[in-house]
This record gives sequence, structure tokens and C-alpha cells, in this order.
Amino acid sequence: MIRVLGIETSCDETAASVVALEGDAAPKIMSNIVLSQIEEHAAFGGVVPEIAARAHVEALDGIIEAALADAGVALADLDAIAATAGPGLVGGLIVGLMTAKAIAAAAGKPLIAVNHLEGHALTARLTDGLEFPYLLLLVSGGHTQILAVRGVGDYQRWATTIDDALGEAFDKTAKMLGLPYPGGPNVEKAALSGNASRFAFPRPMKGSAQPDFSFSGLKTAVRQAATAIEPLSDQDVADICASFQAAVADALADRVSRALERFRETFPGTKNPALVVAGGVAANRTVKTTLERLCTDAGFSFVAPPLKLCTDNAAMIAWAGIERLREGMAQENGFDFVPRSRWPLDSVSAPMVGSGRRGAKA
Ligand code: KG4
Ligand code: ZN
Repeated sequence: MIRVLGIETSCDETAASVVALEGDAAPKIMSNIVLSQIEEHAAFGGVVPEIAARAHVEALDGIIEAALADAGVALADLDAIAATAGPGLVGGLIVGLMTAKAIAAAAGKPLIAVNHLEGHALTARLTDGLEFPYLLLLVSGGHTQILAVRGVGDYQRWATTIDDALGEAFDKTAKMLGLPYPGGPNVEKAALSGNASRFAFPRPMKGSAQPDFSFSGLKTAVRQAATAIEPLSDQDVADICASFQAAVADALADRVSRALERFRETFPGTKNPALVVAGGVAANRTVKTTLERLCTDAGFSFVAPPLKLCTDNAAMIAWAGIERLREGMAQENGFDFVPRSRWPLDSVSAPMVGSGRRGAKA
């Protein structure tokens, strides 16, 4: 039996979890505690890095204690401690990784420095036992990427955003329209009573041979449409949200269908090709149904892990730790690892030139 404690502090969730794996049985999430800092940041309309780091310092000890207690394990029972070491907000990363180093040193356990994106990438193996290779669409407040997941530590980034992340576009749209933070769920709610064909917003990159995403032009189009008809009635806001969501779904479908084709060409022998979605935007019904339909038409399974494992959590970090331990890939010198605010999963694909997002989780 392998048992690993995972710690996640790369953005605005303080999280700890114990995951266990025994023989060929399905892995077991023994505890999974996530404390969201949304209330601390809401007044500022977005995550404030310094507030986030302080909140992690205050909460992390208690969250780890609770995760161990919930799982009914002592530190001595663990095989390793895994902590997110990047990419993300460096203040939070320092808090999580230093705490993990201290616990690992005191308990005499190995320390595994985990890439947060690898946590997202491997979640579908924790929840659905998916076999390699598969395709991952990561759509959150900080990242918008398509990755070919070929094995543990073996990822190819096929597409990324050249400007805003998709969740960020939802959040900025909400802010422009006076809807509260975090914007995604509120845009979705408003869109329910809106007319999706009232505004013809652009479908960024649609038809482009370049595989990447772009959302800043769409955001500008939303701003111009809103400014042109000010003051906005509730119906105007609903119509803008519905039209924005339709444009997003359409643009995503175009980008993802290219990736599905490329997957078929790259991995022709794959028996059950699958597309996995992760990240907060995967909660969006319009986005989800669009992708589901696309997969059905292309003969792909559509795998959407439960939302609480799709958004930031520590079970995915503990699981990545287990996968690395099992493959003999846990860094021997996790204690020397320095947090990395930027840490691409695929070090071969060139960084996106001119990428607008240099902060949080680009
Ligand atoms: O994965 P996540 O919880 O945190 C990270 O950014 O890593 O994703 C949060 C993002 C926010 O931008 C939020 O507005 C967006 O996911 N989001 C949504 C929905 N729920 C959350 N976007 C669209 N529709 C939703 N229902
Ligand atoms: Zn994330």
C-alpha cells in the first residue's frame, strides 16, 4: 500500500489530501480538504497574491492536520509528502513547499515536488483509471491548454492561449457587466435568460491553422457592445452573457476538434481515445455539452472528473506523487527544489512568444 499526503497552495485554495493505492485496486481518496479564499479576494475582483500567501500561512497547518485526521493516518504511516512546487503565485508556493519540506524532514519521509499542471493532467487516472495516451483540455482561471498526455512526466503541449486564459475572460466579462467575482458561474447564470444570437461576437482563432487559443479580442468586443448600449438592463446583460458564451463554445469546439484530429494522426493505434477536461470552466454547461457532442461525433470518450477534482485540490497532487513514486520518478532531492512560478509541463514546446499572461499559472 502506498499512502501520500498532498499539499496545494499555488493560487487561492489551501488544500491537503491523503490518497492511497493498494495493489491493483482503484486508488482511494482518504481525505480531501479544500479551503477557498474567495471571500478574502472578492472585494478586489481577483486574487491578490500577498493576501493569498498570508491566508495560506494561517490556514495550512490546520488543513493538513484535518486531512490526516480525516484519513485516520499518522505521519509515520505515509510513504511520501507531495507538494505543488509550481507553476503559480510564488508566495503561496513557498508556504506549501516549505511546510512540506519541514514535515518530510521531521518525519524522515521523501519529499516530491509536483508540477500543478501534472496534477490536473493525471487526475483522470485517479478518477477513471484512464490509460495513456489521452488528450487533456485544461480550462481554468490561470491556464488554457491542450496537452497530449503520453505517460507520467511525458506531456506534449499542443495549444495554449496567446493572451487571456478562458476563466479570466469569463471573470473580466463579468466585471465589465457588474456581475460579482468569480465571474464564470455568474455569467453562466445570467446567460440562462439571455438571447445567444443578439450579439455576433468574434470566434477567436476559428479556422486558423495555428492550434492556439486567444480570448482578448472577444473580451474587447464584449466591452464595445456593452458600452454602445449603456445603461444596461438586466436583459441586456443576459443577452451579452449568452452571446459571449456561444462565442466561447464555438471557438473552443474549433480548437478542440483540430486537436482530436491530430490525436488520431499521432496515436493511430489508440483503442479508446479520450478527451479529458479539467479546470473551473469545465463546470460550464454550455462548454461541457459542446465538447461532449464534439467527442461523440469524433468517436472519443468524454471524461469530466467530478468538479471538486477538476478545480484546484490536493488529491491530484497526492496522486501525482503516487504516480511518480510508482515509476521511480520521485526526485531524490525534493528538499533542494526551489518553487517555480513558471514551470511548463512540456519543456520542449517553445514558450508562447508575446504571451500576455506572465503571472499566476501561465
Ligand atoms: O480551476 P479553477 O477553480 O481555479 C484556477 O484558476 O486554477 O478555475 C476558476 C475559474 C474562474 O475563472 C471561474 O470564473 C471559472 O473557472 N469558472 C467558470 C464556471 N465556474 C468557474 N467559468 C464558466 N462557467 C462556470 N460555470
Ligand atoms: Zn489549477
